[in-house]
Amino acid sequence: MKKIKIVANWKCNPGTLKEAKVLFNLLTSELKKNFLILKDVETIVCPPFLYLPFFVFQVKNLKHYNLKFGAQNCFWEEKGPFTGEVSPLMLKNLGCQYVILGHSERRQILKETELMIGKKIKTALKAKLKPILCIGESLEEKKKKKTFQVLRRQLKIVFPEISKVIIAYEPVWAIGTAMPCPPGEAQKILFFLKKFSEKSKILYGGSVNSQNCKEYIKVGFDGLLVGSASLIPKEFVQILKNATNEI
Ligand code: 13P
Repeated sequence: MKKIKIVANWKCNPGTLKEAKVLFNLLTSELKKNFLILKDVETIVCPPFLYLPFFVFQVKNLKHYNLKFGAQNCFWEEKGPFTGEVSPLMLKNLGCQYVILGHSERRQILKETELMIGKKIKTALKAKLKPILCIGESLEEKKKKKTFQVLRRQLKIVFPEISKVIIAYEPVWAIGTAMPCPPGEAQKILFFLKKFSEKSKILYGGSVNSQNCKEYIKVGFDGLLVGSASLIPKEFVQILKNATNEI
């Protein structure tokens, strides 16, 4: 049976460590309770950097939860004079296994370029982290029928190591809008992406909730990247359960 990956991208939330701990404890107790139902789902929690050590050191045996940790970004050097940066090596040494890179919020708000993202992917792979590369077209690009062209360009930076990278298709117009990409349309993108690498796991992200999650698994995605719904433990666990039913 295939295993799916469901990634919780908490983005810049919540505002206090206390709230973060409550959220995490609710999630882990649900994961433990539902371990047998969820045995084929790998849950990857990506909180803000600051909260990671508290969670990593709190959970003694991750196997009992099928739980892994990821960061939402990293730098492209291992260490040195780079004020404010966090390196993949630091994340790996802390106990992270994944890192989200190239999220559209970082591309748009922080002006991350493809060159920068490419360098980050390379260093992350060197540190033995699994990069989750986010790609996706904007509404304007979609309207101009440039989706495939944009995706091809965004993917180019990971050649020839594409098979080692998890790809998350997150159309920018579907993020935080309650307007998810229709599963049939997403499936066409999935087939297009598979042509570049049969081996890469491909996730869908953008307004995923417990109602629509199963459709993406049904059409062939290997998992989901969840934003706002991952901040509501009951809803998030429901996503895990509903998605599992479709494997
Ligand atoms: P939402 O699930 O809030 O649309 O966010 C998606 C996302 O950006 C995950 O990385």
